[in-house]
Amino acid sequence: MSFNLLKGKRGIIFGALDENSIAWKTAETVHAEGGTFVLTNAPIAMRMGKIDELAKKTGATIVPADATSEEDLDNLVAKSMEILGGKIDFVLHAIGMSVNVRKGRSYTDQKYDFTAKGWDVSALSFHKVLQSLYKADAMNEWGSIVALTYMAAQRTFPDYNDMADNKAYLESIARSFGYFFGKEKKVRVNTISQSPTPTTAGQGVKGFNSFINYAEKMSPLGNATAQDCAEYTVTLFSDYTKKVTMQNLFHDGGFSTTGVSQEVVDNFSE
Ligand code: NAI
Repeated sequence: MSFNLLKGKRGIIFGALDENSIAWKTAETVHAEGGTFVLTNAPIAMRMGKIDELAKKTGATIVPADATSEEDLDNLVAKSMEILGGKIDFVLHAIGMSVNVRKGRSYTDQKYDFTAKGWDVSALSFHKVLQSLYKADAMNEWGSIVALTYMAAQRTFPDYNDMADNKAYLESIARSFGYFFGKEKKVRVNTISQSPTPTTAGQGVKGFNSFINYAEKMSPLGNATAQDCAEYTVTLFSDYTKKVTMQNLFHDGGFSTTGVSQEVVDNFSE
């Protein structure tokens, strides 16, 4: 299935680690839709992941950047315009990491150095990416910038830990920066609030397997997969969504507005 929706468009895709990554599926789908892009990830992830394989099959160039480093981001933006031969039309921010989660610290027992690091990587990095693009005047008019988020920003999921706060901050940045990017540059900024998805970051959350099954049963359309998310992202990069901006867009098979489903109720029948 390909409609050439992104023919002639150039972009930057953050966060492809392996074939399960949402960014990996997005890169493949953007490529199928005619877009060209630079792939980027933290230098350490380059060594652990398989990004070379993805670059080869999508004809992309890799430019490493730690998304917490302003210097790395400025270099990434400049190099991307050089490599792609012009300004940028689309950007995907698909970055998340909680040190507290990794180290098994619960929400009520945070180590604040860990909290600050996780916030920098998962939330503030989005502002840094936007500011770097904005200051370099790197985005074409009617360009589109998307970051990925989760519903724990609005509702409490105890094991999501400090990532819930990071996602709330991330979503707020999309609204705040979206105003300036819209006014000054006619660029849209949105977040997609995605179903639980079995990726490296997703599976780091305690009890992930039970939770993804629960979400599946609670969602009238079932969980949105990584591939579904890639396809939705492509629509937001395309010219068919030009006036959608500063939104948090739920992409979750209906989970966020379902009170309870019959399958879940049936589990509680006497
Ligand atoms: P993933 O583990 O494949 O991707 C996370 C990426 O963040 C990795 O590529 C990692 O290298 C990158 N990253 C970490 N620190 C970085 C840094 N300092 N600089 C640059 N990149 C860095 O997992 P996934 O699930 O594809 O994550 C992508 C986004 O989707 C994240 O924002 C995540 O929170 C979000 N999301 C994931 C859901 C899930 O259940 N998997 C649900 C809703 C949102």
